[in-house]
Amino acid sequence: MSESLQPSTAELYARHVIATYARFPLSLVRGEGAWVWDEEDRVYLDFTSGIAVNTLGHSHPALQNALATQAATLIHVSNLFLNRPQAELAARIGAMVGTPGKIFFCNSGAEANEGLYKLARKHGSGRGRHEIISLDGSFHGRTLGGIAATGQLKVKLGFGPPLDGFLNVPARLECVAQAVGARTAAVMVEPIQGEGGVRPLSADFLRALRALCDEHGILLFYDEVQCGFGRTGHWCGWHATGAPDALPDAVSWAKGIGGGFPLGAFWVREPFDDLLGPGTHGTTYGGSPLACAAAKAVFDTIEKEDLLANARERGAQLAAAAGKMPRVREVRGAGLLLGVEVQDLPPLEGEEGTVALRLTKRLIKAGLLVVPAGEQTIRLLPPLNVTASECEEAAEILHGVLADRRV
Ligand SMILES: Cc1ncc(COP(=O)(O)O)c(C=O)c1O
Repeated sequence: MSESLQPSTAELYARHVIATYARFPLSLVRGEGAWVWDEEDRVYLDFTSGIAVNTLGHSHPALQNALATQAATLIHVSNLFLNRPQAELAARIGAMVGTPGKIFFCNSGAEANEGLYKLARKHGSGRGRHEIISLDGSFHGRTLGGIAATGQLKVKLGFGPPLDGFLNVPARLECVAQAVGARTAAVMVEPIQGEGGVRPLSADFLRALRALCDEHGILLFYDEVQCGFGRTGHWCGWHATGAPDALPDAVSWAKGIGGGFPLGAFWVREPFDDLLGPGTHGTTYGGSPLACAAAKAVFDTIEKEDLLANARERGAQLAAAAGKMPRVREVRGAGLLLGVEVQDLPPLEGEEGTVALRLTKRLIKAGLLVVPAGEQTIRLLPPLNVTASECEEAAEILHGVLADRRV
């Protein structure tokens, strides 16, 4: 118990919240831009953005106003009816992709991907094609379908038997080509793998996957839940890899699209966009007026404040700074989806966990929040409106910790 005799936030969690996350012992109470404050009023530079979600940072007035105005007008009506914000947002996302197609709105990344698995099966049904090929190191969500598609053993352990119809293969063209067979319905990839350690696929690889899928009459899906919607300094993550021409048949989004308000979506291009007809798919909350008003405000603000350019510039600034730091082996990614891979970080007394986890904990102590990814990599995911001086400050903290000055 804390001094006030009220249980602390950590105590309430320990007693009442299922411990699916090994949470950092930091209870956050408010935020502004790239900054957050904890219960003790300590301030941190937030380079997590709630894991690539808070596109506009914390408490952006445009998002506040959109939510307040829409909440006072109409929050939810279900998909039995039309609502204007959903229709307008769908049109804008369609224009963003730039190819004729249609959109389905849902609530999360895993749910958006579930829609893609169903689309693949619908497309392949009658031809015996139901299998989805995805890549080792990928992450596609925590549903049963999501963990089957995810190419990481740790998310699958304890949840067998694995769902039928999913195949994980090494991220090489010959491995994907070898895996494609009579039962294949689709290939699904993250153009830049996020959770797996920020690993961009090459433009040539994406183009070759497009050609392979065309050759076999199967669908190509991009999971842009993490790398989409401006995070890379481009609206579409596959543009950031240098292959804007490698157009997929469907794309999933979530995270940054609502700027912090839960929203997921998938887009399907013509002629596959009517495969999921009435009664084949649904979700109660998806595309509510409130969620779509939030996403429209995020869209507007990215355009008005030229945040794609800012993401590219600040990303280049951070990558250049991190690339010169001690212990750094490699900096990967695009825009403000950056992975900094560290060679080693000798443990201090009592420290446990991977290099990425130990580094993250030291950075938190020093006032910088980052996200571990894989064993040796931390992700820098500041909001798209982060400033040059905030990036300088973050780089200084990171450099200090890597040089063992600020521990
Ligand atoms: C690429 C990718 N796909 C899917 C997901 C799952 O999204 P959600 O947690 O919203 O279900 C994530 C989450 O980290 C992700 O990074």
